[in-house]
Amino acid sequence: MDDIVAQLTEINKRLGYIPRAQVEQLARELKLPPAKVFGAATFYALFCTQPRGKHVVRFCEDAPCHVAGGRAVFDALRTALQIEPGQTSADGVWTFELTSCLGVCGVAPVMMVDDDVYGNVTPARVAEILASVT
Ligand code: FES
Repeated sequence: MDDIVAQLTEINKRLGYIPRAQVEQLARELKLPPAKVFGAATFYALFCTQPRGKHVVRFCEDAPCHVAGGRAVFDALRTALQIEPGQTSADGVWTFELTSCLGVCGVAPVMMVDDDVYGNVTPARVAEILASVT
């Protein structure tokens, strides 16, 4: 399984997602059923099997972030991005995703843009954070 995950990680990093054709090719190389490789590709939250935008915004929806004002941040993100969780903007710039705890509850509410984590996010900071990455 480690071999599958390592190779899926490399594909996801290189292409931004894991296309079906890559799953089938990897399955042939590893002499495994495609369903086993596809299962790994869909099990881990950081893998994506659909094309994504240039930047991926992840918002933590777990309780500690929620009680620290996360709902208002979530609404600000929806307004700023003009898409719903699970969607990619029409211009291909943003993908918006929800995530479970990112392990930094002490600075809730928390969001990520690509590999960068932002804590103590307020609705007013959302536009500033998004502007800093474009
Ligand atoms: S609950 Fe949001 S980072 Fe832990």
